[in-house]
Amino acid sequence: MTAKSNADTLITVYGGSGFLGRHVVRGLAKRDYRIRVAVRRPELANFLQPLGRVGQIHAVQANLRNAASVDAAARDADVLVNLVGILAEGGRQRFDSVHAFGAEQVALAASAHGARMVHVSAIGADENSAARYARSKAAAERLVLAAQPSAVIMRPSIMFGPEDDFFNRFATLARMSPVLPLIGGGTTRFQPVFVGDVATAIADAVDAKLNPGTIYELGGPDVRTFKQLMQYVLATIERKRLLVPVPFFFANIKAMFLQFMPAPLTLTPDQVELLRIDNVVSDAAKAEGRTLPGIGIEPEPIEAIVPSYLWRFRKAGQFRNRTA
Ligand SMILES: NC(=O)c1ccc[n+]([C@@H]2O[C@H](COP(=O)([O-])OP(=O)(O)OC[C@H]3O[C@@H](n4cnc5c(N)ncnc54)[C@H](OP(=O)(O)O)[C@@H]3O)[C@@H](O)[C@H]2O)c1
Repeated sequence: MTAKSNADTLITVYGGSGFLGRHVVRGLAKRDYRIRVAVRRPELANFLQPLGRVGQIHAVQANLRNAASVDAAARDADVLVNLVGILAEGGRQRFDSVHAFGAEQVALAASAHGARMVHVSAIGADENSAARYARSKAAAERLVLAAQPSAVIMRPSIMFGPEDDFFNRFATLARMSPVLPLIGGGTTRFQPVFVGDVATAIADAVDAKLNPGTIYELGGPDVRTFKQLMQYVLATIERKRLLVPVPFFFANIKAMFLQFMPAPLTLTPDQVELLRIDNVVSDAAKAEGRTLPGIGIEPEPIEAIVPSYLWRFRKAGQFRNRTA
């Protein structure tokens, strides 16, 4: 039997229209795969089509909360990639239903259709965490590996890139407000990772270059505290703002109200819980090579990418160097 060419290999990407999704779809299209993007509103995913050649990328309807739709989107696929995730609950989108139940449905479909699976979790996934987001991500990992033991799991730290929800959010806040809050004093450590590097790691897993049944932890080259990241945002957008420490206790009370606010002001009590724990690659992952450098990907630093999209938050845009 001859091995299938990539052009004959169908990859279903659940959540392919999201921030990470568009980078994954572009990476897989460059490697010549056929791609089926499975999302709740496929009509909003048409913008992905120019990332490939005519007919290479096709969007279908699937809701991870509906097992039959997940299974239908898996039909004839060789690999299922699950990128679906939410940062806050709303309506019927609950952490347990989207992260845990949904990921399990993808793994069950992979097992039923004889497909391999790549699943995206998050650094901090922990069944004992105080944050429900982190508990549901850990439950998802357990359920995925039980249903499809060969699945490859990726745990990124905070991802950055032109459409990110981290640097853009705080730059927007800095434009609107004279102060930026440092929740818990801003000492929590992060290891921001370029979304393009995470997409490359996922494409390598689709290529079957990574170890099955393994959890990879994906971070960038530098570890920074939340305060250092806020200072970096302010320096990049050339604005001076007051950084005000907010103890966790007060942040929790604030979040009771801010959870109902629109972006960039939204902050849920669960997100405050997440901010208590460092979001960095573990020593065990480093020792075992379950990291970007361990799989041969040299991660991009924030300095190489972030200024290319945060300049629009400067008072004078890209034209003058002025501190507002
Ligand atoms: N962004 C980060 O910094 C970060 C860090 C660590 C881990 N992660 C994880 O990385 C993954 C991708 O994150 P992202 O930032 O790319 O998220 P995103 O931009 O919010 O994209 C989420 C995608 O999931 C789809 N989706 C949402 N609910 C769905 C449902 N019930 N059924 C089917 N599709 C659904 C969305 O499309 P529709 O709404 O059209 O259905 C969208 O395509 C997630 O698992 C996230 O938890 C992200």
